[in-house]
Amino acid sequence: MSKTKAEELNKILSGKTAEEILSFLAEEFNDRVALSSSLGAEDQVLTDMLVKQKLSTPVFTLDTGRLFPETYDLLDRTCQKYDIKIATYFPDYKSVEEMVNEKGINLFYKSVENRKLCCHIRKIEPLKRAFKGLDAWICGLRRSQSVTRADMQTVEWDEGNNLIKINPLIDWSENEIWEYVDRNNVPVNPLHKKGYPSIGCQPCTRAIFPGEDIRAGRWWWENPDTRECGLHKK
Ligand code: ADX
Ligand code: SF4
Repeated sequence: MSKTKAEELNKILSGKTAEEILSFLAEEFNDRVALSSSLGAEDQVLTDMLVKQKLSTPVFTLDTGRLFPETYDLLDRTCQKYDIKIATYFPDYKSVEEMVNEKGINLFYKSVENRKLCCHIRKIEPLKRAFKGLDAWICGLRRSQSVTRADMQTVEWDEGNNLIKINPLIDWSENEIWEYVDRNNVPVNPLHKKGYPSIGCQPCTRAIFPGEDIRAGRWWWENPDTRECGLHKK
């Protein structure tokens, strides 16, 4: 894959609906494209679209070991409702043991460096394994989610991973997501209704206050500009 191919795809896919994008990708990449799902509302919309269109695009999730109980429950409910398997990737136990024994179970609150180390071990390394055999990955990113995402395109060249990254919902507003969820009865995390628009690991996610940015509850103790875990580095 290459940056040129990503730019070419971006032209082809611009103006297409999310459903059209997903069916195009299934045709173009077969099983060399997968949906990376955190079980967030956006990813649940994409999973629903894949199933409704009978596309066999695989879905995977990264289980950091620190997710909310509600997220595990949703993972189970989603597989049952849609009769699909969601491939689950875990962190390397030796790396987790070493990190926790050296720096403490809640090391992430102590420094940005510690937090990035934890995200690296619990998310980035497993993600690299999930990428094996893929040319492209699908994500639920939206431009309006945060300042760090305002410039993103439908198709991006993921330089670090040498992969094409596709964001079929890049232009969607939060309202559009909720309309789709309600209209299609998509299973979602009950925490969304309790003030958690963006849900990651339990110790690193809090509810937001009215009027706050929707990702304000993620790593809330850090500066907004550092609040990405490395999954979506440019
Ligand atoms: S994060 O980088 O801050 O964690 P966010 O929660 O906004 O990302 O999710 C953005 C997209 O990243 C999701 O739509 C999904 O495609 C991917 N993603 C995030 N967390 C995970 C996860 N645990 N497993 C798989 N994909 C994930
Ligand atoms: Fe670790 Fe928090 Fe990153 Fe999860 S979000 S991997 S708990 S630092």
